[in-house]
Amino acid sequence: MRQLLLRPGAEELSYEIRGIVKKARQIEALGYPMTWENIGDPIQKNNKVPAWMKEIIADLLKDDKTYGYADSKGVLETRKYLAELNNSLGGNQITAEDILFFNGLGDAIAKLYQFLVPTARIIGPSPAYSTHSSAEAAHANTAPITYKLDPDNQWLPDMEDLYLKVRYNPSIVGILIINPDNPTGMVYPREVLEGFVKIAEEFNLLLIVDEIYQNITYNGIKAVALAEVLGDRPAISLKGISKEFPWPGARCGWMEFYNRESSTEFSKLCQTLENAKMIEVCSTILPQLAIPRIMSHPAYHAYRAEANEAIGKRSEWMTEILGDIPGIKFNPTQGAFYNTIVFDEGVLHSAQKLEVDDPRLQALVEAWTADPTMPLDKRFVYYLLVAERICVVPISSFCSDLRGFRVTLLEEKEEVFKDTFRRLGEAIKRYLKSES
Ligand SMILES: Cc1ncc(COP(=O)(O)O)c(C=O)c1O
Repeated sequence: MRQLLLRPGAEELSYEIRGIVKKARQIEALGYPMTWENIGDPIQKNNKVPAWMKEIIADLLKDDKTYGYADSKGVLETRKYLAELNNSLGGNQITAEDILFFNGLGDAIAKLYQFLVPTARIIGPSPAYSTHSSAEAAHANTAPITYKLDPDNQWLPDMEDLYLKVRYNPSIVGILIINPDNPTGMVYPREVLEGFVKIAEEFNLLLIVDEIYQNITYNGIKAVALAEVLGDRPAISLKGISKEFPWPGARCGWMEFYNRESSTEFSKLCQTLENAKMIEVCSTILPQLAIPRIMSHPAYHAYRAEANEAIGKRSEWMTEILGDIPGIKFNPTQGAFYNTIVFDEGVLHSAQKLEVDDPRLQALVEAWTADPTMPLDKRFVYYLLVAERICVVPISSFCSDLRGFRVTLLEEKEEVFKDTFRRLGEAIKRYLKSES
């Protein structure tokens, strides 16, 4: 090429949640079935889409309007519905004009960071959901800036760490909050959200909150929306239907802009995001048309309550099965449908192994783990993949110095779920003992 093609930030784009699939597929190609624990796709884990939901979608498909373009910002009726839903919480009030639709929340996240000047940084949680951290790092041409979530304090954010990083780094213009959180499954109490707002007020920052799991909480916990505690700070809430309906294949998510006129710079950012969508024309219309019909259906709340209860139950089973295993720790979850298991410091070593019978699998794992600089949790994950054919994601690939891995709490079939976690537990024990 006559010139370099890529900017330095392009190297920051990595997504191990999907990356590990390439390795798992090599094992499948040898004839082994795989237990997929890498991605938050309820459909893949046998969750059923209720018949009434399918009927709503089937009816929409009979209407010619479903086949046209939507308004650039999204279907007006749906934006009005969602604005009212937010306003009914009694916090920050918005109109349909403050809502902008995207082709999945992943698309919204990519656009959000793309237009910021590279020197304007958004500090995000660690462990981080990598769609955010990668997109933010790619826009800045350098590694992400993060604040710690503390596994020894229910995965709550280390507010002192956040405060000091914000205070001594004037390039930080905003804070990202994921609530309920992926990958920790934690839901932040109101006081914690108020703490974020307070820091944003002191340093004149923008708040970005990913609330895609807002209605997925259980075991007596309810999530507080940022809009309820925000006051007059500029903020963007990110929401979607991939998890809640569940309909990840719809590729439908949206942004809600709060206090849009409170800062000229923020107002320009909102306008730019809208302009970018206009250039693209619009986002997919079918799921947008379905949203008010599904969310206002008389069966919707009972459906969500039942699905949430099932996740809560699985969270308890996980604690029962893995709770007493030495060398690991995790917190019972309150929301979303993941848990992060952390290895105790010093228990992982570079000579640990799991026995593998098939020489072809042995060859694969030896090749994958040949790099001596590889994070030790990744090494465990690769051995788990070949020995138990369970596909999880190492926590080192979530922008974290911790060593561990993320699992999902999605498997609908009780026996399959329990068997997976039992096998996982036995594999952890064997792996940690294997070196001596
Ligand atoms: C916190 C969070 N935000 C955004 C997304 C992306 O959702 P979508 O399927 O709408 O792109 C996910 C998907 O796992 C997620 O966990």
